[in-house]
Amino acid sequence: MIGRLNHVAIAVKDLSAAIATYRDVLGADVSAPLPQPDHGVTVVFINLPNTKIELLEPLGEHSPIAKFLERNSDGGIHHICYEVDDVRAARDHLLAGGARVLGDGEPRIGAHGKPVIFLHPKDFNGTLVELEQV
Ligand code: CO
Repeated sequence: MIGRLNHVAIAVKDLSAAIATYRDVLGADVSAPLPQPDHGVTVVFINLPNTKIELLEPLGEHSPIAKFLERNSDGGIHHICYEVDDVRAARDHLLAGGARVLGDGEPRIGAHGKPVIFLHPKDFNGTLVELEQV
């Protein structure tokens, strides 16, 4: 069901410092920061030959990554995103198998303008999983 790894998202407290690390230390191709108020994050995309890394910094008072950064003060891997052909079919398959979909279960438009759902970390080895329809 799942296809390519679309991205790995890393939550950071200080986006400028994280950008400098990826650009200057790791020599990566780093995009300009993109504020996404609807998602409560500012995002930077790091394009690698085979996938993307997204650095997420909290934006606004109700950022969905604020609690994560309280627990992980150095930042850390927040979620991984796999591609699927049909996000609703994937959701129905997962629900039938007992997995938990976060929120009301309806796909939302994600950071790339495509429908996404998130799956409960407890059902996937402690990792928050995003499925993105491509
Ligand atoms: Co994501």
